[in-house]
This record gives sequence, structure tokens and C-alpha cells, in this order.
Amino acid sequence: MAASDTVTSLAVEDGIAILTVNNPPVNALSAALRDGIAARIGETSADPAVRAVVLICAGRTFIAGADISEFGKPPRGVPLAEMIAAIEGSPKPVVAAVHGTALGGGLETALGAHYRVAVPSAKVGLPEVKLGIIPGSGGTQRLPRIVGVERALAMITSGEQVPAAEALAMGLLDELVAEGELLAGAVAFARKVLTEGRPLRKVRDMNEKMEAARGRPEIFAEFRRANARKFRGFDAPEGCISAVEAAVNLPFDEGIAREREIFMPLMQGTQSKAQRYVFFAEREVRKIPDLPDSTPVKPVESVGIIGAGTMGGGIAMNFLNAGIPVTIVEARQDNLDRGIATIRKNYEATAAKGRLKPADVVSRMGLLTGSLDMGSLSSQDLVIEAIFEDMELKKETFAELDRVAKTGAILASNTSYLDVDEIAAATGRPESVIGMHFFSPANVMRLLEVVRAAKADPEVVATAMKLAPKIGKLGVLVGVCHGFVGNRMLAERQREATRLVEEGAMPWDVDRVLFEFGLPMGPFAMSDLAGLDIGWSRETSRGETLREKLCEMDRRGQKTGAGFYDYDSGRKASPSPVVERMVLDHSAAKGITRRSFDDGAILERLVYPMINEGAKILEEGKAIRASDIDMVWIAGYGWPVYRGGPMFYADTVGAKAVLAKMEEWETAIGPEFAPSALLRRKAETGEQFTGAA
Ligand code: 3HC
Repeated sequence: MAASDTVTSLAVEDGIAILTVNNPPVNALSAALRDGIAARIGETSADPAVRAVVLICAGRTFIAGADISEFGKPPRGVPLAEMIAAIEGSPKPVVAAVHGTALGGGLETALGAHYRVAVPSAKVGLPEVKLGIIPGSGGTQRLPRIVGVERALAMITSGEQVPAAEALAMGLLDELVAEGELLAGAVAFARKVLTEGRPLRKVRDMNEKMEAARGRPEIFAEFRRANARKFRGFDAPEGCISAVEAAVNLPFDEGIAREREIFMPLMQGTQSKAQRYVFFAEREVRKIPDLPDSTPVKPVESVGIIGAGTMGGGIAMNFLNAGIPVTIVEARQDNLDRGIATIRKNYEATAAKGRLKPADVVSRMGLLTGSLDMGSLSSQDLVIEAIFEDMELKKETFAELDRVAKTGAILASNTSYLDVDEIAAATGRPESVIGMHFFSPANVMRLLEVVRAAKADPEVVATAMKLAPKIGKLGVLVGVCHGFVGNRMLAERQREATRLVEEGAMPWDVDRVLFEFGLPMGPFAMSDLAGLDIGWSRETSRGETLREKLCEMDRRGQKTGAGFYDYDSGRKASPSPVVERMVLDHSAAKGITRRSFDDGAILERLVYPMINEGAKILEEGKAIRASDIDMVWIAGYGWPVYRGGPMFYADTVGAKAVLAKMEEWETAIGPEFAPSALLRRKAETGEQFTGAA
């Protein structure tokens, strides 16, 4: 028997049916694929020549899950749960043969099979939680039956991929077969099942681990408690936990029904919409309309960094981690020594936590060279300047770099605000100059704004964008403007946070509203953490702003035990009566009659001006698409992924609502609120910025 459609094919060899799935790029379970698998399983059941079935995938991976692009659309084809039930109900043993990644619906499919084999490089996981949903086709009911409740909770709520060896150890896989010989290994395994007369092992019937957990509800209570911080704001993790609880407490079919009951509202909700949007947005950033994938890139095998301060050191670590040698240049020996010592200290701290091998500390430090001589930057493929934010100083540095760097080297500035075109003009090779704006701490934050200077060669831009993932960053291409995308929008929020406090809110009200919205912390807590005296000096302080007043009182943030907040010895913050008094006096001195703001009003005042600025950025072509702006905020500022980014959020509240407020504030407060033409157009047409909310 041989049957096929566009995405599945069947061939029978000596009693073993090979059911091959071929739906590039990742064998996602589209309607056609579900129909195909269900039909082929039906055929193998009916065919007396078939004694066992091997389910295997062509291409780079086993089934990587449901087809996310079908979500939210009218259902078509055989439902996934039904297809999996057909596999599990097959009268002939089905062996799933896994390579690449078996994820989500893909792992659920494999769990429907009676046996699972994999190559050592394979990984398995249920990443649905990352899309704001729970596994919706039996994953929450079958996985705990094999691996037990604790492991299932960890896997399902983290969405992490488990390597094959670990999956084998927990019984999720039955056997590993040699790399590159999956089909032969799986067929041999199927024959073994037949010759040994092994049973049709159905995961749905494995109840031992569920019974063991039934009398221990504290497992769930403890798990919720231990992870409360991590799950804050997200709906899906609680859904995952409840579904696994159902696996323990209900018979299989009722558990499946409960899983569906939890799945559906999550799938239709805004959080999942936002998280699915982010999944695709993260992949969109790589696509640059005028730079096709075929644009040549330059090799980057060595890197120079100018400046061994916090930023320079953090940037260096990204390259050292990727095995790329770095030469770091400083003006003074003591600064150079301090910078290198900090890098070493960071690595040693990571090693002390067991997250890095001591040998790796040695090898990474071995790739680092320090120098006081700009002449040491004559052979590197890429040089990144990370010095003080001063245009004249940067121009001098680039002029000097122009003299020493080799022909063809990429010259990048890590400036966070300054005009990269002006910096490029200080060299005789502006085509080689771009911005590479890292976010502090540069070895941790995932965002890299690649700033496209006007004269930069396409090859230079493409190289920086392709380099980003190699050093663990999400590269987003932005245009030259003050503060680029992220800091330009942040400035709006910062200005309004300060004004809100002058007009009637307290710093802790502002911070609480942003924290509850899902951000890691508000601007005042952040300032206290960073230190209020950055860029402040007693000599030049005019005692005008709240920040200046606080610094003059030696309330310089967490490090002095007081800032906008009071801190106890464990650095726990509490609202400060001193600051409260000071804020009231400050408003009075400015002649402002304070009024009260509810949380909604605070949020609008902080976020709507950011959205308006985002619209201006799009209008001016400083970001390619709205979703790129959202990725800047998610990867660089901790914007909650379940709210999709500021532009997605704008679409959930509607451009009309944002426009109305901007117009109101423009009249009442000032021209800085003038609505962007794009915002106005979106409000008039009802079109969205992202088209995804
Ligand atoms: N549905 C639709 N498209 C998908 C997809 C999916 N599940 N997974 C990947 N794609 C697309 C990507 O958007 C990308 O498209 P593009 O080339 O046009 O940008 C292309 O496939 C290749 O993907 P990647 O660039 O991510 O390729 P990698 O090799 O880096 O990674 C992967 C492969 C690990 C499979 C990664 O794509 C991934 O993690 N995919 C999502 C897995 C997932 O979340 N599965 C669960 C889905 S939900 C589910 O199954 C519900 C069920 O319980 C009912």
C-alpha cells in the first residue's frame, strides 16, 4: 500500500508502515496535516499487511506544534485531539520517531503514540504557555501520567525544551537511536515491539502517578507559592496548573474536557493574542525590505571596544561569550584594570552560582586583551565605541579610529541619543559607520538597536543585524533620531511621570500603576536603584527639580538608604513621609493646585504620549513596522509580553481613545501632546497599527 497527499505519505515495508510528515518549514499541524495523518492512520488500521506504524517527519524537525497562524480563525479539518485519539486508538502499535524539536501539539501527537524514540540531539517540550495558552490536545493530561506531577508542572508552566537524554531518563522517550539513523532505528524498535509482543501502551491508561499524587494537594499549593513572582500578571500559568490538577483528580476523559474548558477562553483572550503576535513580531524584525536575505555579510571574527566602563565591559562580555576575541582600549591604566576586573568578577559570580564552568571563565578571559593604545584596533573586523555621551569626544574618537582601523572594518557607536550621521561624518568612511545601541546591563538585556546611519553600506547594516543573534541579542533596525526608538519614547513617559507628581500623584502611585500594568518597576524606583546622583553635582545643583532636592538632602537612592523611597536594611522600599512633604511643597512653590488621579488616568498619561511618539517614529520611517517598536519595548524595557508592546496596546484601546486624550492635553497643557498625523489617520479609518489586536 502507498498513499500520499501533499503533506503526508505512507509506505509499507515488510509489515512496517512508514508515515512521513512533510510540511515545511517546521511541520506545523495545519488542517491539511491533521486530516492527512488521521487518514493515513485509518489506512494502516485497515490494511492487514501493516503490523506496526512509524510516524516520522521530513525536513529539519519533528512536528513543532499546532499551526499558530490558524489560531483565532474558524476551525477546519480534523481537530487535533481527534487525530491524536486516532493514533492512540490504532490497533497496531505506533512509534513516534523524533528529531529536531517535538513541541506543543507535536509532543502531544507523540504522546498519543504507543512508543517514542529519538535521536540524541532531539528536544521535546510544551511551549504553549509562552503563547498565553495551555497545551490544548491532551498534553496536560498525558504528560503528568508519564513524568509525574512535579516534572509536568515544571515543563508545562515554563515551556522549556527538554533534551532527549533527560526525556529518556524521565520515561518520556523509550529509546535513543543513533544520530542520522532515525528511520532505521525506529523501524528496528517497532520490530522489537512486535517480536517481544509488547502491549499497545496507551498513556491515557497510565494512572499510577496520578493516584500517587491524589492525596497530596500541597504539591500544587507549594508550586503556586514558589512561582507567584515569576507568573505575575500572566493568565496561562494558572491555567496550566489547574489542568494538571484535573489530570490528578479526574478520570482521563473528564480531564480532557476540563483542559478544553481552560484552553478556549485563554486562546480567545487578549493575552494570548498578544503573545502570539510577539512570537511572529520577534521573527519579523529580521526582515528588512530593502536588504534581502542574500545581502552579503562581512565576517566578524575579532572585535575592538573603546571604553572599559560599565557599557564597554558588558558589551565585551557578549562577544567573549560567543567565542569572539575582544580588544578593549581605555585611556588610563587604572580604568582599564578596573574594567577588566569587573568582567572577571561577573564571570566568577556566574561560575559561583554554577551557571558557568570554571574552565569557561578562563577561556573567556583568555579571549580578552586590554590596551591603552588606539593603535591596537588596527586589525579588528568591528570596533564599538562606548565612551562618554559627548558629541565632540565621539567625533575625535572616530577621527582617530578612522586613522587606525583597517579598511573595511565596521565602526559602530554605542551612543544612546546622539546623531550617528554626524559621528560618521567625522570619518572619511561614513559607509562603514553605524550605531549599535546596547541596553544596560549590556551582557544581560536582550535588545540591540542597530542604528542605520544615512550613508551606511547595506553590507554593514546586514552584518550588524545578522551578528545580533550570534551574541544572544534581538537586533532591531532603527533610524537616526534623538534617542532612537526606545529612549525617544521613554523620554515621553519620563516627562509625564515627573509632571504627574507635580500635579497631584505621589511617586509610589506612579510606580505602582506601572508595576501592576506588568513592568518590572516604575521610573522612581528605577531612579533610586540606578542612583539619583548620576550626572548630578553639588556645585551645579540648582535645587529646582525633585531629583536635585533629593540629592542635596543626600537622599541619592538605594545606595544611601533613601531616595524617592525610604529603604530598610534589606533594601525594602516604603513610601517616605519626607518625600511626601517635599512633593507637596514643590507643587506649592510652582503654584500648582494639586488634584487626584485615579490609576487609569495615571496609566493613560504615561502610556498614551509614548504611543503618540511611536506613531511619529513610524511616520518618519525611523522604525520599519509597529511590531519592531513593540519588540524594542519588550526586549529592552521589560514591557509585559502579555500586553504585546505599546503599539499593540494602542490597538487594544483603539487609536480613537488615544487621539482624544492627546487632543485634550494639547489644549489643556501644551504642544508637546500634538497628535501625530498617523495616529489621527488610524483613529479616522479605524485601522490598527499592528493589525493583530
Ligand atoms: N505555527 C506556524 N508557524 C510557525 C510555527 C508554528 N507552530 N513554528 C514556527 N513557525 C514559522 C516561523 O514563524 C518562521 O516563519 P518565517 O520563516 O516566515 O519567519 C518559520 O516557521 C521558522 O521558524 P523559526 O524561524 O522560529 O525557526 P527555528 O529553526 O529558529 O525554530 C522552532 C524552530 C523551535 C520550531 C520554533 O519555530 C518554535 O519554537 N516554534 C513554535 C513552537 C510552538 O510554540 N509550538 C506550540 C504551538 S501551540 C500548540 O501546539 C497548541 C496545542 O497544544 C493545541
